[in-house]
Amino acid sequence: MKKQLFLGALLSVVTVSSLAASGASRNEVVNGEKIAREGNGRGAVGCLVCHGMHGEGVSVSGFPRLAGLNARYLEKQLNDFVSGARDNVVMKPTATALSEDERRAVADYYSKLSVPERVAITLESNEVGEALALRGKWDQQVPACIQCHGPNGVGIGEHFPPLSGQSALYLANQMREWKKGSRANDPLGLMKHVAQSLTESEILAVAKWFSSQPTFLVENSDITSQVSAQETTQEKVTGGKQ
Ligand code: HEC
Ligand code: HEC
Repeated sequence: MKKQLFLGALLSVVTVSSLAASGASRNEVVNGEKIAREGNGRGAVGCLVCHGMHGEGVSVSGFPRLAGLNARYLEKQLNDFVSGARDNVVMKPTATALSEDERRAVADYYSKLSVPERVAITLESNEVGEALALRGKWDQQVPACIQCHGPNGVGIGEHFPPLSGQSALYLANQMREWKKGSRANDPLGLMKHVAQSLTESEILAVAKWFSSQPTFLVENSDITSQVSAQETTQEKVTGGKQ
């Protein structure tokens, strides 16, 4: 009992000092979960209204899932909504109403929520979508999507967001935004090039393909052997491993 009390005291000392060391507390610790649920009282409404109770998104409305996405990717998107590099009438006022610390805290919060577990959905055959996802469109220098987005599109590191577990509507919308130029926040214009090389029916097909993929990799499936190919492309893109 005594030992437990001592351990408890020790832990709280460690927690307090590590918070201070990370600079998380200036006046008060910013609470990412509170922002997600209630907003910040200064113009940002609670994110769950649109992104779901557990950050799973709302497929029919094209509201993306945030749960389990990389924290730095999410933070970058919020900053891009503020700067206008990603122009969106809904997210701009919300992101602008958050301070930098609040954007970081809410991004950290969503990154830690578990990825909604979804198994593959069997669709009618979708050869066009599958070919783009797995092999690309080399006559227009479009690499396979999985070379950057990972096998099944589960996402890799802070640069390459997951595509599986997002609705087809959301995915297709993003590619249309790149085509129009209202989303212009991608490093090296990688996605602008990809989107501009696809026709509207290819966009729909590949969006449908990824939205039907499982959000987790199955161990030992032949798809895991695609990882090495994708690592090579990423080295070229980011100039090194992540
Ligand atoms: C009124 C609805 C609404 C609210 C409230 C809202 N969002 Fe969004 N959010 C959207 C929509 C719609 C998009 C997709 C925008 C687009 O198409 O580019 C989006 C996109 C995003 C993205 C980009 C995701 C990705 O995969 O690139 C992030 C990050 C995000 N929202 C965070 C938040 C946070 C944090 C809050 C709460 C402070 C919030 N949102 C509140 C509707 C909303
Ligand atoms: C050379 C690397 C590369 C390839 C190949 C690639 N992407 Fe991307 N993609 C990216 C990067 C980087 C981002 C994130 C951009 C940012 O920072 O906002 C992205 C983001 C996206 C997004 C937005 C996701 C979100 O949460 O908002 C969609 C949709 C997407 N890609 C679809 C595709 C599809 C479909 C293909 C294949 C036809 C593809 N990508 C091929 C690098 C790539």
